[in-house]
Amino acid sequence: MDINIANESNDDIELELLLQAIHRKYGYDFSEYSRAHVKRRVLNRLTTSGLTSISHLQEQVLYDKEFASQLLKDLSINVTEMFRDPPFYIAVREKVIELLKTWSYIKIWHAGCSTGEEVYSMAILLKEEGLYDRVQIYATDFNQSALSKARDGIFSTDLIKKYSQNYIKAASKGAFSDYYLAQYDHAIMDQSLKSNIVWAHHNLVTDNNFAETQMVVCRNVLIYFNRRLQNNVLRLFYESLTFGGILCLGNKEGLHFSDYEQSFDVIDKQQKIYKKKYLIS
Ligand SMILES: C[S@@+](CC[C@H](N)C(=O)[O-])C[C@H]1O[C@@H](n2cnc3c(N)ncnc32)[C@H](O)[C@@H]1O
Repeated sequence: MDINIANESNDDIELELLLQAIHRKYGYDFSEYSRAHVKRRVLNRLTTSGLTSISHLQEQVLYDKEFASQLLKDLSINVTEMFRDPPFYIAVREKVIELLKTWSYIKIWHAGCSTGEEVYSMAILLKEEGLYDRVQIYATDFNQSALSKARDGIFSTDLIKKYSQNYIKAASKGAFSDYYLAQYDHAIMDQSLKSNIVWAHHNLVTDNNFAETQMVVCRNVLIYFNRRLQNNVLRLFYESLTFGGILCLGNKEGLHFSDYEQSFDVIDKQQKIYKKKYLIS
């Protein structure tokens, strides 16, 4: 019998099946992540594991929980740093703090917080601006091991050197060393920074919004999603924010091409900071 051969490459077919296997077995849905990103990470894992095809990798994922967990980490990309993109923190100081001060109680959602550096940076900034006592931060990620590192708040002193430089560039107001305790080759973040932070598992693909939030920070996460998923996640943020609430995205992200461009005013075009518009009745 003659058979027709599909135009798709074997890699693409196998990749699709791998994503279905991950979803069905472990509940994580990567089908709407940027395909280029997913393919790059999977092929990378294929090379390092010495397996010969994505189908073999799929078998390993189904039968070896440790291997699956490693692949999920590969796909989640946890790159982060404290005061990453210092101009963003300057913009928050100059343009957002005054707006936040209008609320007596401020709820902030850091979505995709990775190992917590972004959250500790915001806690430091809010402390220096005299707002931290009025704030409750919900810091979420779908990667449990990143969250557990975040909760511990222990970073190597090598990293701390880089973070101190970022801190200075972010027009900060104190000494970075005031915010951690140095021990051997590690720095432990100060307990007072942790007091108003709740760390929680949350998957942006499948979980619900947070009600009555004054600020949502989700930086360098949407770049890994396709347009449709970006739009769904932006809906989640829109619904989570109160009117006048602030949305902070990464500087390579934005509201362009989404259904929400008209629903926000731009606070800082470069740093992708937006304010949810009030409804005019
Ligand atoms: C590159 S890091 C960004 C960390 C931090 N926001 C920053 O800008 O430095 C991307 C984070 O998004 C998280 N992430 C990816 N997909 C997610 C999802 N569906 N739900 C929640 N977090 C997700 C990853 O686990 C990772 O920690």
